[in-house]
Amino acid sequence: MISNKTILIAGASSGIGRQVALLLSHHNNRIIVSARRQFELDTLCKEIITNGSQAMAIPCDALSSEQAEDCVKQSIGEFKTIDIALLNIGDGPVFNMSKTSVDEIHHNTQLNYGTLVNFLVPLIAQMKWQGHGLIAHTNSLAGFLGLPMQGPYSAANAAGRILMDSCRIELKPFGIKFVSIYPGFIATKRVKTDGIPSPFEISELDAAKHIIRALEKEAADYLFPFITANLVRLAKILPKSLTNKLLTKLRPAHY
Ligand SMILES: NC(=O)c1ccc[n+]([C@@H]2O[C@H](COP(=O)([O-])OP(=O)(O)OC[C@H]3O[C@@H](n4cnc5c(N)ncnc54)[C@H](OP(=O)(O)O)[C@@H]3O)[C@@H](O)[C@H]2O)c1
Repeated sequence: MISNKTILIAGASSGIGRQVALLLSHHNNRIIVSARRQFELDTLCKEIITNGSQAMAIPCDALSSEQAEDCVKQSIGEFKTIDIALLNIGDGPVFNMSKTSVDEIHHNTQLNYGTLVNFLVPLIAQMKWQGHGLIAHTNSLAGFLGLPMQGPYSAANAAGRILMDSCRIELKPFGIKFVSIYPGFIATKRVKTDGIPSPFEISELDAAKHIIRALEKEAADYLFPFITANLVRLAKILPKSLTNKLLTKLRPAHY
């Protein structure tokens, strides 16, 4: 059980990040919640405090490296150390590569990969100084494969996966641990209307429980849910022609 820890969650105002904050709030933690929407963060803080933990809201647009760095500084200013950071910002909208613009792709790369970088650098500096810490990233099973209609999202998450893998090896001597979390389809508000088929979808609450298990186990890679994770593992070792046939099922009939 994670208790009596200082935990920063970036991307906590809704969906999976919000659920993780609420579950952790029952165990006497100090929880810093960050995202752009102040009202949602303030409401979440009230719930966290009611559940017995301390809470702090830091509104921040993580596309700005200055704001992300400032968020880390404010957290340390309040609680002195950060034991765990869950970097959960991201979005995987439908991308039709014959219709999308270059700017839309760059924006999505910034959102899924750039925000990770913007938090990673100041967090690593702080945790190296502290001599301990755990940085977790909510990646996606899409980060293992080039999914149809999700190409830019898959690519940005693949970059995040590789960066976290490097950090894990490089920064081990400084006591910093890196946990990469790879969810399959989760029934969050954000994905309800995107029109992409969502096989083996699980609830937001079940996803949050998985994420906390990943943090507790300090797993290098944590893939879930079971069936989708194993399909992805299989797809990685099958000949590409077979993998492509499988992935074609995720392509909508009309696009
Ligand atoms: N849902 C799924 O099926 C699924 C599957 C695999 C992986 N994931 C990953 O899980 C994570 C959470 O997704 P979710 O479904 O829970 O979606 P969500 O509810 O939209 O959560 C995304 C969070 O990121 C924040 N955010 C977005 N842009 C930001 C920015 N520029 N600066 C700071 N914060 C920003 C959002 O808050 P504000 O809008 O208030 O800024 C929100 O708190 C994402 O990384 C997603 O890629 C989701």
